[in-house]
Amino acid sequence: MSTFELIEPEIEAYCEAHTTGESELLRRLYRETHLQTINPRMASGQLQGEFLSLISRMIRPKRILEIGTFTGYSAICLAEGLVEDGILHTIEINEEYEDRIREYVSQSPDSQKIQLHIGDAKTVVPSLNETWDLVFIDAEKTDYEEYYNLVLPQVRENGFILIDNTLWNSKVVQEVRHNDRDTQAILAFNDKVQEDPRVRNLLLPFRDGIMMIQKLTR
Ligand SMILES: C[S@@+](CC[C@H](N)C(=O)[O-])C[C@H]1O[C@@H](n2cnc3c(N)ncnc32)[C@H](O)[C@@H]1O
Repeated sequence: MSTFELIEPEIEAYCEAHTTGESELLRRLYRETHLQTINPRMASGQLQGEFLSLISRMIRPKRILEIGTFTGYSAICLAEGLVEDGILHTIEINEEYEDRIREYVSQSPDSQKIQLHIGDAKTVVPSLNETWDLVFIDAEKTDYEEYYNLVLPQVRENGFILIDNTLWNSKVVQEVRHNDRDTQAILAFNDKVQEDPRVRNLLLPFRDGIMMIQKLTR
């Protein structure tokens, strides 16, 4: 185990064995993502998927925003906590994923509650006239600060934002190369959140690091 590995593989396997298993739909989606996409590691998978589902089921949100759909794994998990008339808006910039997302989302029990937007979140988010109970940001790392600035005013007081990959493969605690824009962006983003008086935050050392944020009341 290197100094920077968050969790031993044996521990991860044990946790997976003691976490509610994936639905047959998510298992198929995960397998197809690995067989047919170039960067399958981007998909949440069982542990993070169950974590997102649980958080959503605890909050029971009416409106969820997701930035970065990829093949739809996390969207399907997050939608599990929506109230009866709830909606999850998920935004994906790469139109090559559209057919696969629609195929799998249509088989989900929450398919009617999931609205896919193909486009750049930086233009789609301002066009959505919603108040978010829960936001999951999981897209371009160099744009994290921009997504956050766009989204925070739309989050209800006491609402939540989760941001993935905020430990960035542990690069946040290693020497940063001058041309490593992703790590530089994550470092600047984490500092910004830490100093933001509008929120409370927890950087959870789970998987690739999830920054969990609650918007405070004014
Ligand atoms: C890490 S993957 C998302 C994984 C997914 N949330 C999951 O957990 O299964 C990041 C996705 O964000 C998309 N993306 C990147 N920049 C974006 C943008 N500006 N707007 C919307 N989607 C974007 C990428 O095309 C990619 O599919």
